[in-house]
Amino acid sequence: MIIDGKTRTCGLIGNPVEHTLSPVIHNTLAERLGHHMVYVPFLVEEGRLADAVKGADALNLLGLNVTVPYKSEVIASLRDIDTLAKNIGAVNTLVKTEGGYKGYNTDMEGLYRAMDSEGIRIEGEDIILLGAGGAARAVAYLCASKGAQKVYLLNRTLEKAQTVAGEVNRTIGRDVIVPMTLGDYTKLPDRKFLAIQGTSVGLSPKVEDVVIADQAFYQKIHTGFDLIYSPWETRFMRLVKENGGAAYNGLKMLLYQGIIAYELWNDVQVSEEDAMIVYEKMKAHFI
Ligand code: ATR
Repeated sequence: MIIDGKTRTCGLIGNPVEHTLSPVIHNTLAERLGHHMVYVPFLVEEGRLADAVKGADALNLLGLNVTVPYKSEVIASLRDIDTLAKNIGAVNTLVKTEGGYKGYNTDMEGLYRAMDSEGIRIEGEDIILLGAGGAARAVAYLCASKGAQKVYLLNRTLEKAQTVAGEVNRTIGRDVIVPMTLGDYTKLPDRKFLAIQGTSVGLSPKVEDVVIADQAFYQKIHTGFDLIYSPWETRFMRLVKENGGAAYNGLKMLLYQGIIAYELWNDVQVSEEDAMIVYEKMKAHFI
């Protein structure tokens, strides 16, 4: 990679940032596509987020990704926000515009593209979604806005599922999200579902944790999609496979959220061939 006077800088702001795979995504693409762009991690300490965004603007940074714990807090520092990101209430990508940054949520479009690349459809589907935290809430909104028939939102705490369902249904204007407790899976219609695992349960190092351990639950799943990608195969995925379903981890979601951010920053379309080259590089970090 040649860094010269025309090189533009992008980066990741969050805390922590040292384990990020995003530099692999963006620097590989910049090199392959010949863009004068470099991507670096920036650790932002608690209480310094607004300063960081102001400083980035002053330094004319082309764009930023935003990760934990700043995806909601960053909204206050934006000049403009995309509608999807606004409705989700979380921003993971900033794009430089005249006078400040515009915020986007490429996590959810990334999940959508990752599922599409595996032939998994949302439109018209009945979907089981596990969890009601920030990530699951965004997935609930994605499913609703992409035309899912019903989303059965199963959560340990029913009240949180009810809150998410209420918010998303109100925004979408139809009763698509159905809040339930984890044990309520026995009440689901007798058929097979796409299930999305949207909690951090099962994340390394607690790889044996799973939200629902009951085998009977997994017999209801034809396809399982876990947002987690470390470990490469979660216990949720293993249980789906043991019961005859197909299972996918969240690495392609990470890939495509990055690709969509790259496309926004550089005003290009990244080909599937280039996407797969990046994916192979990312995968090498796991297997
Ligand atoms: P976020 O996406 O906001 O980062 P998270 O903290 O990763 O969310 O995960 C929160 C979700 O995981 C919640 O749905 C939580 O259930 P509660 O709403 O009942 O707290 C769920 N969760 C966390 N630990 C769990 C466990 N041991 N069993 C079942 N669900 C759990």
